[in-house]
Amino acid sequence: MEVEPVTAIIGADIRGADLENLSDSQFAEIEQAFTDYLVIFFRDQPPLSPEAHVAFAKRFGELHMHPIAPGPNGHPEIMTIHADANSKYADGNNWHTDVSCDVEPPLGSCLQLRVLPAVGGDTLFANMYSAYETLSPMMQNFLSDKTAIHESEHVYRGRYADRGVDDTGKVYPSAEHPVVRTHPRSLRQTLYVNPSFTTKINGLTTAESKAILQMLYAHQQRPEFQVRFKWSENAIAFWDNRCTQHFAIWDYWPNERQGHRVTVKGERPFHEEREVAKTSLRVSRRHD
Ligand code: SIN
Repeated sequence: MEVEPVTAIIGADIRGADLENLSDSQFAEIEQAFTDYLVIFFRDQPPLSPEAHVAFAKRFGELHMHPIAPGPNGHPEIMTIHADANSKYADGNNWHTDVSCDVEPPLGSCLQLRVLPAVGGDTLFANMYSAYETLSPMMQNFLSDKTAIHESEHVYRGRYADRGVDDTGKVYPSAEHPVVRTHPRSLRQTLYVNPSFTTKINGLTTAESKAILQMLYAHQQRPEFQVRFKWSENAIAFWDNRCTQHFAIWDYWPNERQGHRVTVKGERPFHEEREVAKTSLRVSRRHD
C-alpha cells in the first residue's frame, strides 16, 4: 500500500489497498493516514457491495444513521447520494460537516461514487485545524469558551420528498457544541462551526453572532486550507468530519451523479486545552 499526500495540508491518495481484505496492520496504516491527512482517497477500487462498504466503515466504529436521508432498499445505514435532471437539491452543495446538528455527530463518512457526470461534480474538502490555527491568538482566546447552536430543520424539511420521504411531524435534531473542538485522537483544536447547520453563537447578540460567524465562514473557506477531489468511477473518499468541512459542487445539472455513503458515529464534541506536538501539516498564521 502507498500513501501519497495530495496537498501540503490536507488529503492523501492511498493506492494498492484491497478494502475487502485488509490485514490489521494495513487497517492501522489507513487509520493513521486518516488522522494525518484528514481525508483519504482510494481510486483503484471495484464497486463495493453494500455489505463490503458497511464492513469497511465499521472498522472505524459504530455506524451513524442519518436522521432522514433514504438509503437503498434494506440498508438504512447507507445514504444514497444522488442528483439528476429532476433534482431540486444535491446533497452537500454548501460548506458543512456532516450532520453537526446531532448531539453525537459523525466521526467520518465514506463515500463511493458509481455514476459520474462527464465533467464536474468535484468535492472540496477544507482543513479546520488550519482554519483554527491561523486565527489570531486573541480570536482563538475569545472563541475558546464559546458554544454554538447547530440546527437542521431548515436543511432537511421536505428535502427528500422527491424520493418519497414524507417528513410530516418529524422533529429534526439540534445540538450545542463548542466552537473550538478538541479532536479526540490528535488532541489538536479544530474550528467547529459551519454555514449549513450552525445558527448562533451562544451568549452573543444576534447581530454579534452573525458578524462573527460570517467572518469565521469566510476564513474557513480560504483556498489554502482546501483540496479539490476530482472523482473517477468507483473512487472512494473517506473524510474526518471532526476536523474538516466539505462542499460537493453541483455544477453538472442536468447530468446524473450517484453513490453510496456510509457514516461512522462520533462522540460528543468537547473542548480541552492541551499542548500537543506540532506536525508538519500546518500552515503558518498570517497577521496583517
Ligand atoms: C456529502 O456527503 O455531503 C456529499 C459529498 C459528495 O457528494 O461529494
